[in-house]
Amino acid sequence: MIRINENYLKLQASYLFSDIAKRVAAHQQAHPDEKLIKLGIGDVTRALPDACIGALHKAVDEMASDDSFRGYGPEQGYDFLREVIAREDFQTRGCHIEAEEIFVSDGAKCDSGNFQEIFSTDITVAIPDPVYPVYVDTNVMAGRTGESADGRYQGLVYLEGTRENGFIPDLPRQPVDLIYLCFPNNPTGAMATKEQLKQWVDFARDNKALILYDAAYEAFVQDPGLPRSIYEIEGGREVAIEFRSFSKTAGFTGTRCAYTVVPRECMAYTGSGEATAVHALWNRRHTTKFNSVSYPVQRAAEAVYSPEGKTQVRELIAYYLNNARYIREQMEALGYECIGGRNSPYIWIDGKSDSWEFFDLLLTKAGVVCTPGAGFGKCGEGYIRISAFNSLENVEEAMSRISRSL
Ligand code: MLT
Repeated sequence: MIRINENYLKLQASYLFSDIAKRVAAHQQAHPDEKLIKLGIGDVTRALPDACIGALHKAVDEMASDDSFRGYGPEQGYDFLREVIAREDFQTRGCHIEAEEIFVSDGAKCDSGNFQEIFSTDITVAIPDPVYPVYVDTNVMAGRTGESADGRYQGLVYLEGTRENGFIPDLPRQPVDLIYLCFPNNPTGAMATKEQLKQWVDFARDNKALILYDAAYEAFVQDPGLPRSIYEIEGGREVAIEFRSFSKTAGFTGTRCAYTVVPRECMAYTGSGEATAVHALWNRRHTTKFNSVSYPVQRAAEAVYSPEGKTQVRELIAYYLNNARYIREQMEALGYECIGGRNSPYIWIDGKSDSWEFFDLLLTKAGVVCTPGAGFGKCGEGYIRISAFNSLENVEEAMSRISRSL
């Protein structure tokens, strides 16, 4: 008899964004003429940069001729991409990261979800609340938690983000083995300083723990004093894995390309305390389960680092950040307290009411889709998240509809 992984039964019936999509589809069906404005899921709306489109076309043409055709590439990604990433995203910014430490993939969602597989199921995992649901759900699937009670899974250590700590969680009061962090934060848009990250790195070193650092939104950091990588922090190479993505940086949500950095110094331990390089474990997992990203897409990602690509990406980021500034200013003018929207495409808004009720109100009265904060965890209750990923025209229209309906 085929049996299921019963850990799946502990999960909420559907993934947060699928749940929202279902509610939005039902509303749209009931009001087919209404033009909804979607500021919910963080999905980009602007076209790929010209530099990437040019590189894609060229690579597709290469695939059309036997002389330049490519079959399977290296599972970890082509050297041309790994090298330019190591140089441009890290070495030129003073971080020691080598090309062999870069693993190209099809998304930070998959990598941040899959990485836990290489660790024991009986480790203690610390996860922020509110949080990108992938970190929690994948640990539930792996059997690292008990049942959910009152919005919390037994066995997880929750790192609470609150108004009081500015949504930068405090260190846990107990030893933990695996720590998830995300800055600029999804969903709150909060951004940690170097001093704050240093405390986490030191904590991980002291506890022989590992940090899974999701930096998918690093391109939105504009303040030069803020860290864009955990490897800017002394000791980061010893205890942190970093996830990066071209999705929000260069509009690759539908094109799919990302990467994970696994420094050779990062260690995990056997039951008897023997150190094992995480790089070797991830390499083993990655080469077994993944065949990398298609050649044209890797060429398109490489073009992000060309002089034109860099200019075009800067323009894209500035465009969305301008939307974010506008949303934040408008919500503040309406009397709502906001976090994020600076150095981040997300604005986290204290809705002063139940998250899902506020979501429903914006949907039904303004025809605007946001994300209810409660979907990101217990500490998200009372908040909503608005995403800046849309056209300026739509953002302006959404904000004037919201101000009319509140
Ligand atoms: C979000 O809206 O939180 C993100 O778009 C989800 C994702 O990147 O998978």
